[in-house]
Amino acid sequence: MRLPYDAVIFDLDGTLTESEPGITKSVQYSLDALGRTDYDDEMLRSFIGPPLFEAYTRVMGMDDETARKGVVLYRERFAQVGWTENAVYPGIPLLLRSLKAHGAYIALATSKPEMFAGKIAQHFGIAQYIDRIIAASPDNESSDKPELVRRALPDSYRRACMVGDRKYDVEGGQANGIDTIGALYGYGNREELETAGATMIAEDVPSLTALLLGECGAEKGLFISLEGSDGCGKSTQMEPLAGWLRQCGHDLVTTREPGGCPVAERIRDVVLDASATEMTDLTEALLFAASRAQHVHDVIRPAIAAGKTVLCDRYVDSSIAYQGAGRGLGVELVRGLNAPGVEGTMPDLTILFDIDPKAALKRRINASEADRIEATAQAFIQKTYAFYHDLAKREPDRVKTFDADGTPDQVAENLRRFITPLL
Ligand code: TYD
Repeated sequence: MRLPYDAVIFDLDGTLTESEPGITKSVQYSLDALGRTDYDDEMLRSFIGPPLFEAYTRVMGMDDETARKGVVLYRERFAQVGWTENAVYPGIPLLLRSLKAHGAYIALATSKPEMFAGKIAQHFGIAQYIDRIIAASPDNESSDKPELVRRALPDSYRRACMVGDRKYDVEGGQANGIDTIGALYGYGNREELETAGATMIAEDVPSLTALLLGECGAEKGLFISLEGSDGCGKSTQMEPLAGWLRQCGHDLVTTREPGGCPVAERIRDVVLDASATEMTDLTEALLFAASRAQHVHDVIRPAIAAGKTVLCDRYVDSSIAYQGAGRGLGVELVRGLNAPGVEGTMPDLTILFDIDPKAALKRRINASEADRIEATAQAFIQKTYAFYHDLAKREPDRVKTFDADGTPDQVAENLRRFITPLL
């Protein structure tokens, strides 16, 4: 199966990233500093896409010298915070990953200055898919799109395409004799893109994905699990991490084990009931495996098949660590009990929250009343901890150990930095 285009050049703002807040706030800052109050939201928005200098002269009617000052002021704020006030459109990482999986060449051609384009791509986890970034040089105010597209094209290709949300992108592609796709979900509009002569229009990211992948289709979604001893802080990190993954363009499903769907949540109530002291270790292991089988069937597998990213608080490694190693049922037995339910659905990435197990238990018991499993001895905790560390050694490609020490805010920030290049 062949991709419709073996070389795809993307614009950044309004095509891969939703950069409006960072741009409009930085324009506003520059206009305020220049004493201009005669602007509205629409004028601010029309700065997205065209080269900056041109926008100051055309939208604000500035002379060249004032426009140059505007550019300097804009960049002052943008360099500090503006570039982080950004989000990748939902579905873009999947599109880029799928294009790469089929061998496409991917480049960026953007009027943003080089250092920001690279920083943004890196920060939001899309840099690893991009072969070449062609951006405006810092002193090049007019950053001509046809020239950027020309430099972004590979030395040889079968068929290339330029994807962008403004007429500048369409014109840039046309000037190089390649097809163009107008990204209607960005900051342009249908009339602008059609008048410019876009070969095709993509209303949203899924239609862009269909146009660019053709019969090759999208890859399956990513499956990420969080593991660690009780009290390691991973459940607290689920929400901030989910927010970050969404900002990076992941179409996300968050879930947990035991539980995650109605049947599995009912099993959770039974298996974690602190009063069920007569429950045998084997019963416990079977209940965890049963809840997992339903969860994989109802939630995890369908989401992965639909290209979504699944973020799951604990998965089968927990059973092997707690019931296999901790309770002493044996790693192989527990793996076997889980095999029919898991059926090869394993995480692509497992983040192991590493924290001293004694400190973690203390933190947890202070935080809430211990449930049945936490109420068991320290020796048990040590065994699960040792298993997890051994697992990280045996499966270094999948299981990554994360230092989870620190305040919740520090840990959230560290986790963002840790996980982004691993995605
Ligand atoms: P929970 O309150 O969700 O704790 P945590 O935030 O630490 O995940 O309780 C889940 C408990 O169940 C936890 O002690 C780990 C244990 N567990 C197992 O023993 N086996 C398993 O397969 C799973 C998923 C969890």
